[in-house]
Amino acid sequence: MFENLKPTPPDAIVGMIKLAAADHSPDKIDLGVGIYQDKSGATPVMGAVKRAETLLLAEETTKKYIGILGNPSFNRLFSELMFGADSEAITSGRLAVAQAAGGSGALRLGAELIKLANPSATVWVSTPTWANHQPLIGSTGLPIKPYPYYNKQTQTIDFDEMCAELRTHAVAGDAVLLHGCCHNPTGADLTHEQWQAIADLMLEKDLLPFVDIAYAGLGDGLDEDSYGLRLLADSFPELVLAASCSKNFGLYKERVGLVAALTTTPEAAKLAEGQIGLTMRRMISMPPDHGAALVAKILADPQLNADWRKELEDMRVRMNGLRTALADALVAQSGTHNNGQMAAAIAAQKGMFSLLPVTPEQAEKLRSEHSVYLLNSGRINIAGAKFETIDRLADCILAVL
Ligand SMILES: Cc1ncc(COP(=O)(O)O)c(C=O)c1O
Repeated sequence: MFENLKPTPPDAIVGMIKLAAADHSPDKIDLGVGIYQDKSGATPVMGAVKRAETLLLAEETTKKYIGILGNPSFNRLFSELMFGADSEAITSGRLAVAQAAGGSGALRLGAELIKLANPSATVWVSTPTWANHQPLIGSTGLPIKPYPYYNKQTQTIDFDEMCAELRTHAVAGDAVLLHGCCHNPTGADLTHEQWQAIADLMLEKDLLPFVDIAYAGLGDGLDEDSYGLRLLADSFPELVLAASCSKNFGLYKERVGLVAALTTTPEAAKLAEGQIGLTMRRMISMPPDHGAALVAKILADPQLNADWRKELEDMRVRMNGLRTALADALVAQSGTHNNGQMAAAIAAQKGMFSLLPVTPEQAEKLRSEHSVYLLNSGRINIAGAKFETIDRLADCILAVL
């Protein structure tokens, strides 16, 4: 019977990873895949994670199930990290939290919870957005609609268009998926004023914030990157958060994330936890422990916590340095006349990604003629760049534009 199955459509990212792997040019610059890479192009286990693993190995006495909502210490400590330990969201008891299989699992659980609470909700997502938002959220059956977010040619946020679309077409109870920081794929984040304006608009229209934070600590810093989330949590009766530990703890394959729902009362939070637990039970029964236990250990231990923050900060500073170096190289090689805008946008954007104003044909040319690997959309992962070859990268980008 399995021969009757339909072949799966090719995955753009997987295809590009294969192409890059097959290219043995010494000039290769791989900006395709969305994981952090250090200056040697490796994605090593973070030092704090290694040390936490050694401790856990020695301390662990049982492999019993951890419970349907996951590791309680992880749930508490990671939600405190996101919302702020003294925040009303944490102290009020209005927050339902559960461990999830990465940010992706959190997005799926969050979307399932929204569907259970309001089956007629539409989820609004930015154009463009992370390619997996649609499949993860859409597979719950909730309809998805796009709102304008980014103008690839001017490399600016379409904020007026975003607000106009939501104001005109979103209806009370709809959810709006917002990237908490380091927008994927554009790197273009809302300013504090824009967060306030979108919060006002959404409150007025009774829209539910659905915040996705996959890069906390990699934009402006840990607290700074939660600015939008915390602003919304302070002013909204309800919101949903999907957060990932894949990038900021380098725990990609361990699949650690957190889903949280801010509710109107502690009783409603219990109901939400019950439904998240039931959904988890129906999908995978019990979540795994290892990754969550590592995060809990790091956050609970002052020395590991400080070490992890330092490593995370080093990653952030390195990526910002690469952004500035690329912007400087673009300006140095072209003057500011044509590309001052591109250079300024790249320098100001946050996190791993920027979206270059290239066509799919120009992206293809970068790959085939220059061994510079990026997605057809123009998305680059700045962490894949190196200071030693940044001039060549600027040169290649300018050559195809
Ligand atoms: C915007 C965004 N959200 C969520 C995720 C989920 O990451 P993971 O499931 O690996 O934790 C990613 C990963 O690339 C992402 O870019």
